[in-house]
Amino acid sequence: MSANARTLPSNTTLLGIESSCDECSAAVVRYSLADGVQVRSVATFSQIKIHQPYGGVVPEIASRNHLETVNQMIDQALRESGIEAHNLDAIAVTNRPGLVGALLVGVSAAKAMAYALGKPLVPVHHLEGHASSIFLDQAEAADIPLPLLLAVVSGGHTNLYVVKQPPELWTPDFLTRSLVGRSRDDAAGEAFDKTAKLLGFPYPGGVWIDREAQKGGDPNAFSLPRALPQKATFDFSFSGLKTAVALLADKLRKEGQLDARMPDVCASLQEAIVDALLSKMFLAARENRCRAMAIVGGVAANSRLRSRLEAEWRGGGLARPPIFPKMAYCTDNAAMIAAAGVYRFRQGHYLRMPEMLTLNAIANPEF
Ligand code: KG4
Ligand code: ZN
Repeated sequence: MSANARTLPSNTTLLGIESSCDECSAAVVRYSLADGVQVRSVATFSQIKIHQPYGGVVPEIASRNHLETVNQMIDQALRESGIEAHNLDAIAVTNRPGLVGALLVGVSAAKAMAYALGKPLVPVHHLEGHASSIFLDQAEAADIPLPLLLAVVSGGHTNLYVVKQPPELWTPDFLTRSLVGRSRDDAAGEAFDKTAKLLGFPYPGGVWIDREAQKGGDPNAFSLPRALPQKATFDFSFSGLKTAVALLADKLRKEGQLDARMPDVCASLQEAIVDALLSKMFLAARENRCRAMAIVGGVAANSRLRSRLEAEWRGGGLARPPIFPKMAYCTDNAAMIAAAGVYRFRQGHYLRMPEMLTLNAIANPEF
């Protein structure tokens, strides 16, 4: 289906649903040419506490919990937005990638709503949602200079993209076409989570490492590996860091020093991850003549990553300071899914009856 630009309304109001992992979220956003995507409401139930005793997300438990909460999140988002369901232009839902059972809950809820209300259904790639998070509540987003070096840095992905077009022109294959680098093994968030676990912090560990490092930790106290330092690639590798941190923790434990040195250990391992991210981001930005840089996903909440980028962006030949989503939109949320849905919907990429009933959840799409 392709939209006729002349018939596009000036405003678009969408409900978004996100259930790809351990956040069950619904949100209503409103797009206008003048104000961009403004968030009217977000309702999120985080399952973190439910999975914490297991040290990570248990897929079966995640799906069951989404089933229990998804309708409440949709009701709450609609109520708080002040927008009646029948006034929505469309329903957007994450259908890939993620835990397949968890995705299916959101997809089924979205299908049922779209069918009952007679509205179009917009399938959204979770990473396109993260990419769209920088435009939420930012009227000046239209002025972001291009090309943009976009880093999606989450618990599941560490991907670098060179984005050459504004979101209104993102094509369905834009993620594949603009990918220039990725992690060859663990994602950056996974590196935080796995090292945090072996240091005894709860899941998800990134925020705990960040907090512990801020207790006066010295980022240069311990020398930990930075993988793939050679110039020829924009790829990352974080799996070696786990072994190095495990060995260091063992040594300090035997010396009875681990607790006392914990801020230094956390600051040092955080520095290793941040160094690896920054060196490849600046390299990719320079080589692709990027004029701006944006970091999205859960790891974009990291205080050290933010402060170093704020301090170092000028050296990277960029035209403006780095772009981060608002803190609330770094980790998984449905507002970013609704935003990505708005751009897709306005380009005519949506499903109607009866083909919407064939929409499936895809755990690992090709892109
Ligand atoms: O984007 P997200 O909510 O979920 C995925 O799509 O994966 O990202 C979650 C990840 C986790 O690995 C978590 O440890 C990490 O983001 N994270 C952080 C911080 N806050 C969340 N990592 C480092 N520092 C933080 N402050
Ligand atoms: Zn995510």
